Amino acid sequence: VTRSFHSSFAPIPREHGFEPLRVEGRIPDELDGALYRNGPGLFSIFGHGYEHWFDGDGLVSAVRFAGGRAEGASKLVQTPGLREERERGAAYFGSYGTKPPGGFQWRRALRTLREGGKNPANTSMLAWNERLFALCEVGRPTEIDPSTLETIGETDLDGAIVRPFTAHPHRIARTNSFINVGVRIGRPTLLDVVLLRADGTAGRLASIPLASATLIHDFALTERHAIVFVAPLDIALLRVLFGRTSFAGSMSWHAERGTEVIVIPLDAPASPIRFTVPAFWAWHTANAFERDGQIVVDLVRYDSFETTARWIEGVYRGEPSLDPGAYLSRVTIDPKRRTLSSVKLRDHTSEFPRVAPADDAREHASVYHVEHSSAEAGRRGPPDVLARVDVDRGVTDRFAFSSHEWPSEGVFVPRASAKDATDGWLVSLVYDDRSHASAWWIFDAARLADGPLTRAHLTHHVPLGFHGCWRPS
Ligand SMILES: [Fe+2]
Repeated sequence: VTRSFHSSFAPIPREHGFEPLRVEGRIPDELDGALYRNGPGLFSIFGHGYEHWFDGDGLVSAVRFAGGRAEGASKLVQTPGLREERERGAAYFGSYGTKPPGGFQWRRALRTLREGGKNPANTSMLAWNERLFALCEVGRPTEIDPSTLETIGETDLDGAIVRPFTAHPHRIARTNSFINVGVRIGRPTLLDVVLLRADGTAGRLASIPLASATLIHDFALTERHAIVFVAPLDIALLRVLFGRTSFAGSMSWHAERGTEVIVIPLDAPASPIRFTVPAFWAWHTANAFERDGQIVVDLVRYDSFETTARWIEGVYRGEPSLDPGAYLSRVTIDPKRRTLSSVKLRDHTSEFPRVAPADDAREHASVYHVEHSSAEAGRRGPPDVLARVDVDRGVTDRFAFSSHEWPSEGVFVPRASAKDATDGWLVSLVYDDRSHASAWWIFDAARLADGPLTRAHLTHHVPLGFHGCWRPS
């Protein structure tokens, strides 16, 4: 059997709190804080296999740095859905790409309609006002104890969140507040816009009706506007409730309808500007800002949802066998003229774009992402390169991994006195298929091509996952 990234999609062997890691190289003394990541940790429940990468129960993995030492921890999120299935001793819920087991059941369908389905809390982490949360777009945030990774529980933040809350809240560096959105499927389907203030309070800014039930994974934020791209992707909820198919299986793409751009003024959120442009899809935006009355958004752009859906399904099976078609792009919006233009920033296919926290909702010079070393690599598996793209000069600093090492999203950790978005470290959790184990790799963010400064080794693997966040001490 040839080993590859695919061997990482195996259940975690054990859960543990923070314990010392074996360190190769030196941990910079100034690194002081913890990085938390999320992704799937289980791939079946009571023999019922999950059919999609997005379905695994959330596993939070963290590394804590202090005084030149590293400690690691990994724990499953004890979601209400996982606990209920364990109490039942059987699979009960469907998920993004897995049908509910056993066909149609009235009780389960009604309950899903009222309360939503299982929230696997498996996509990203949010550090806000001393608190830590595991996020997944289908449900509320799940609060996690940052020092033990124990699950505290789901929260609606004192009523600010009705239910769905995407895994991609965006921050405004100037005010240290966050905005997030969530799609509440119903009649009508509503887009909830939520503000998380720096003082720890939260509130709902608006609920904007959408034309149909859809999926919105991420959005863009400047200091004055939230920008939501509503692609022509329909979800047929009734087919899911009747047990005919999974959420993913119920989706259909209607390119002829185009992608709707909703520009939401933060000081008048109930009065958005809305217009439609030729269809495109984006899972992720890196950052956004405003310049001369125009809104600039850097995102990973796809021509169609259908190809990325097939590519992701292929990754979960072991080989995508098609081009991912994902390009870091600069989208410029003129809200007055209601136009949008788009240019490619990079020729290699990529995902998981991020900027330095100091640049959140401000003009940025650097985007960090993972990209494919070649078109062939894109057809074979996940990205194999960590890169920083200088978006103004068009140059890229990059590190290519060996064919047995599989990086996750790179998270930039600023030096305390950071002068720019390269003054710090880039940290990635890397899976090695030869040892079937993972390690935290630390790079000097200004010199990725030099290779890692440090590798802090876990004694076990962490399945390839999605997003993380840095929380300074
Ligand atoms: Fe995401």
